[in-house]
Amino acid sequence: MKRPDLNEDVTRIGGQSGLAALPNRTTRITGWGHEVPATILTNADLETIVETSDEWIASRTGIRERRIAGAGETTASMGAIAGARALAVAGVGIDEIDLIVVATLTPDHSMPNTAALIKDALGGTRAAAFDLSAACSGFTYGYAVAHGFLTAGLGQRALVIGAETLSRVVDWSDRSTCVLFGDGAGAIVLEALDLPQDQVLATRPGTLSFELSSDPSGAYALWIPGGIGADADPLIKMDGAKTYVYATRTMAAVASAAIARAGLTPAGVDLVIPHQANIRIIEHVSKSMEYPMEQIFVNLDRYGNTSAASIPIALSEAVAAGRLKPGDVFCTVAFGGGYTSGAFVTRWDADPAHGARAATVDPARITVRRPEGGSNSAAVPEALRAHLDARGAKRQTSQPQ
Ligand SMILES: CC(C)(COP(=O)(O)OP(=O)(O)OC[C@H]1O[C@@H](n2cnc3c(N)ncnc32)[C@H](O)[C@@H]1OP(=O)(O)O)[C@@H](O)C(=O)NCCC(=O)NCCS
Repeated sequence: MKRPDLNEDVTRIGGQSGLAALPNRTTRITGWGHEVPATILTNADLETIVETSDEWIASRTGIRERRIAGAGETTASMGAIAGARALAVAGVGIDEIDLIVVATLTPDHSMPNTAALIKDALGGTRAAAFDLSAACSGFTYGYAVAHGFLTAGLGQRALVIGAETLSRVVDWSDRSTCVLFGDGAGAIVLEALDLPQDQVLATRPGTLSFELSSDPSGAYALWIPGGIGADADPLIKMDGAKTYVYATRTMAAVASAAIARAGLTPAGVDLVIPHQANIRIIEHVSKSMEYPMEQIFVNLDRYGNTSAASIPIALSEAVAAGRLKPGDVFCTVAFGGGYTSGAFVTRWDADPAHGARAATVDPARITVRRPEGGSNSAAVPEALRAHLDARGAKRQTSQPQ
């Protein structure tokens, strides 16, 4: 059966830019890792915070629970632990990294950038470090920027991190958004890879292609007023229906464009790792690209939408679950605020067994620098803290003495 020509759709999205990897230099992933907070907030917990039900959330989104950062946990602290695990898996030290890119919409501060705090927490002395703002597409943009940096010869290795503390920018009285989001971080080490002159496209390892796009017509359909504007409201606002339409129109088209740039057809992709926003959006990708759901990695039931962290967490879990082996081609695809969307296609060539090295990282030894006499200002929001405290107290009193 002929697959629908989704490449035609990408021209309608607007503002896209893409690239097939250069002939003789590309990049490869050599390290991966993730970190999520220990505190789990289930749909049943949410029933006591807003007027909702497990049935509504699960049937509309596929989400069953999400993680919530504790008092000392921030985007920088989770990103640093994920980054340390990725470095351990790659078998490189922080000072062998030339560039740190942190994709996030929830930086610890407006300044310094989160990447600098992470570099410091990891004991780094030499990498260039900056944050990148492209909402839920941030990791695909960060990967593309790091790939460009490395293939242009500006360095040999980059640490690309997606990290978010969305629980601090969620309105816990708005049931249409608070059920969707969660906290966490994921990271990869990306290394430059020189290929032999005669390497054919069909077997070349590493990064194969990208597709990035932005459609500002959705600028205020998914946004956080914040910033320096007159309305500095720091909480997420969303037109869910409009965003749903953008997502279903974009995801398959952007993934298909990246796959075509890689010289492949969808049949040449072994695993799709989509942004984990909503199972119905992912099922739409499955249907329009004719991938069975078994070929698409899903973990949103356990984490909800972690924005820029969602793809690197999913990638790290996919490798640990044995879903990627050397030679497999995977495609990631994301959409998010802006609106933005992005995809990249990579032929995996690392040894999945290296993932075990992440266990050598002791998170207790990773400390994020804080201002003198100050602390992290992102306290657990009151509505949530009250619920978690009451839940903790209930559990303690119900424990046998
Ligand atoms: C948000 C979303 C799940 C809503 O699903 P939906 O199928 O469009 O919802 P419906 O239109 O069927 O239902 C909306 C109704 O449910 C209600 N509702 C919203 N959130 C609810 C909740 N958590 N629990 C119960 N009811 C809820 C609304 O108030 C509305 O009620 P009304 O019809 O009486 O006004 C869906 O639009 C979506 O996933 N959008 C994309 C969001 C996204 O991915 N954002 C992140 C982008 S990176």
